Amino acid sequence: MRRILVAPGDGIGPEVTSAALHVVGALDLDLELVPAVVGKASLLEHGEHITDETVELAKQADAVLFGATESPPPGVPYRSPLLTLRRRLDLFANVRPARALLPRLSALRPPRRLDIVIVRENTEGLYVCREREEDDGVVAERLITRRASERITRFAFEWAARHDRRKVTCVHKANVLRRSDGLFLRTFQEVAASAPPGIAHDDAHVDTVAAMMVQEPTAFDVIVTSNLFGDILSDLAAGLVGGLGFAPSANIGERHALFEPVHGSAPGIAGRGVANPTAAILSAAMMLDHLGHSAEAKRVERAVTATLRAGVATRDAGGRHSTMGFARAVRRSLEGARG
Ligand code: NAI
Ligand code: MG
Repeated sequence: MRRILVAPGDGIGPEVTSAALHVVGALDLDLELVPAVVGKASLLEHGEHITDETVELAKQADAVLFGATESPPPGVPYRSPLLTLRRRLDLFANVRPARALLPRLSALRPPRRLDIVIVRENTEGLYVCREREEDDGVVAERLITRRASERITRFAFEWAARHDRRKVTCVHKANVLRRSDGLFLRTFQEVAASAPPGIAHDDAHVDTVAAMMVQEPTAFDVIVTSNLFGDILSDLAAGLVGGLGFAPSANIGERHALFEPVHGSAPGIAGRGVANPTAAILSAAMMLDHLGHSAEAKRVERAVTATLRAGVATRDAGGRHSTMGFARAVRRSLEGARG
């Protein structure tokens, strides 16, 4: 029995999470689902967007399935549930795959197969959020440590080996950030020297990578990079494969793991049953893979592709299906493919 803490959150979070659970429910797995309140409902009930009790429940679970939460306007004190969980559970690796499930969803012309995985360092870089006034302006600190660089690089190579990937590319800006990204790159090269056999490695500047991702997307396989570069490149990759509705993610640490769609609460479309649940469904598949159910995870991925190929899609992908209508079609495909 595996215990999953389910934290749907705000806006479209509950809609896409229900859709993902509807799909997972078709599989014959022994999962205990523990509901958790995060976001605005938690604020109303407990005075904060996430409570210490919820963080403890997350620590006790085998995995967390997270939807999305809405942040208040600037100026209002705020403890982001997702950033809190990333920090308190030490989820140092953010894995963001981007794969064109169907040629017609690709923004690349002519449609080309983009299939990359971005492994983003999740604990430092510019996200230490240390800004201070100085003279006429503001200085933002960007922290790069050897320990975090080594840990994320090892993770990227291990992930590549476990998922039959062929190459890991270190993405940096060491020509300008000579000391900080110099350290990141040097650490990568040291780890790469004893990488698992059969996995190549190289490195490239982040600006070049952005252009190549559009013009020559097959140049990349697994990318390992620092926090902000990973954030930006993964949204670029999501845009190239159909938009945020198609971008799943995993946040993984030594002892804990959390899975969530990359998108936010999308207040503009919330409550109408039109959100694309693909990102949430694929995030749940990543969770199954992490829990050792890799065959089931692949079945879910195949069912999503088959459903899209059959012309079933939500509005953002040019279709007319509702969130649950899409999920029901994926579940039927999954059940039809059984045996
Ligand atoms: P967003 O991801 O919520 O929405 C960006 C755009 O993509 C909107 O046009 C939205 O309608 C569309 N979109 C997003 N997911 C979609 C889906 N599944 N299907 C169809 N269309 C989809 O980002 P935005 O607007 O910047 O933020 C909205 C709220 O979400 C903010 O309060 C923000 O702080 C929060 N947020 C939360 C995140 C999380 O919980 N992990 C991540 C990003 C934003
Ligand atoms: Mg999210």
